[in-house]
Amino acid sequence: MDQFKIRGGRKLNGEVRISGAKNAALPAMAAALLTPEPVHLKNIPHVRDIITMAKLLAHMRCRVESPDIPPSAFVIQAETVSLAEAPYELVKTMRASVLTLGPLLARFGHARVSLPGGCAIGARPIDLHIQALEKLGATISLDHGYVEARAKRLRGARFRFPKITVTGTENILTAAVLAEGETILENAALEPEIVDLAELLVKMGAKIEGAGTPTIRVEGVPELHGAEHTIIPDRIEAGTFLVAGAMAGGELTLTHCAPQHLGSVIAKLRECGVDIRCNADDPSILRVRAPKRLVAADVITEEYPGFATDMQAQFMALATQAEGVSRICETIFENRMLHAVELMRMGANIKIEGNCAVVTGPTPLTGAPVTASDLRASAGLVLAALVANNTTTIDRVYHIDRGYERIEEKLCDLGASIERISPGRDA
Ligand code: EPZ
Repeated sequence: MDQFKIRGGRKLNGEVRISGAKNAALPAMAAALLTPEPVHLKNIPHVRDIITMAKLLAHMRCRVESPDIPPSAFVIQAETVSLAEAPYELVKTMRASVLTLGPLLARFGHARVSLPGGCAIGARPIDLHIQALEKLGATISLDHGYVEARAKRLRGARFRFPKITVTGTENILTAAVLAEGETILENAALEPEIVDLAELLVKMGAKIEGAGTPTIRVEGVPELHGAEHTIIPDRIEAGTFLVAGAMAGGELTLTHCAPQHLGSVIAKLRECGVDIRCNADDPSILRVRAPKRLVAADVITEEYPGFATDMQAQFMALATQAEGVSRICETIFENRMLHAVELMRMGANIKIEGNCAVVTGPTPLTGAPVTASDLRASAGLVLAALVANNTTTIDRVYHIDRGYERIEEKLCDLGASIERISPGRDA
């Protein structure tokens, strides 16, 4: 398993290009199952979860092609899907494989998708995906660890999500577009990734209103066609680089990002004293400059447009360097604090109180061997290592490769010292 060896204490300066959003690209790739015609997707990030989704679609016998290496675009054609199945081997490496359930069922009338197990950040059931599909007329059974779903043709219905779910909203949206009649989804997720998916589906011929609001209306159509779509910028990658600039800048310029999706992160960083500026001539550019002194701020993770749970670990790393007490509360996932213990091993002053971490700063961090527990936790540890004395070794960086494109190269281009150590490769 690869490790990162990070020598801390270097100032970051320069320009970084933000990649396409993994969490928008995954549902878009699954949506290609809805039509026999080719779907062209651009601004695809080259990260491991995307490769897993491409493998899953290929497993179903879809054509998945990319004009370049590494792939930044895909042409996906689901003309000949002969296996409407997401096997355990792929689902266990990526829960988002479950996003194929809605499109497979809607187009082929049946789907067999492995139930994802729990994961490092919580139990993460898919009961709401199943309830909503049943409301649309699907017959669903659980068999040997698989969800077996059948429906001759799904029927539109009204469904209120008892709890907001991002992939749940995406799964049902991609099912409802081919259902007979009108579907109304209430208490839907508002994330920009939902809006991006709806835009792709509309280009494919779907009739959708209200994406990005709590109520989404879908008028089902009998079939969809091919389309071309550019995936939105990754707001979590951008947020991570804003925190990097705030902690270890210098001054960073982020290009190809979408500041309009970063409202609560920008507001929180400004509260900590960070100077973040938009560019009047080019709205896809943000500049971040590290302040002389970071000040503490409290954070509660919430669904969009609130402060994203996917930015919580990175903010905790920043809070270790901020003056005062920051109370960071996680409300979306029940077990997303594992990085706190690793940060403490680097010298952070953190007390865990239920689902909150109370961080008192600033404390000097010292390099230590640490272990990444999930994708965003790894990002938090990388950020801490950038400002730590000496060398930090981060184990299990495959987590970070799932969702960040070449993070070590991007950071090294800005002045960081990060070496990837791959076992078996000559030093
Ligand atoms: C999406 O996960 C993202 N993944 C996650 O990104 C992100 O952390 C999360 O949304 C929250 O923003 C993708 O988009 C591929 P949820 P998702 O369903 O959809 C509970 C990253 O690092 N719930 O919105 O799986 C659930 O357990 C990641 O890129 C049910 O109880 O999250 C959680 O507590 C990791 N039953 C809450 O809802 C269900 O049927 C919100 O989860 C579904 C969800």
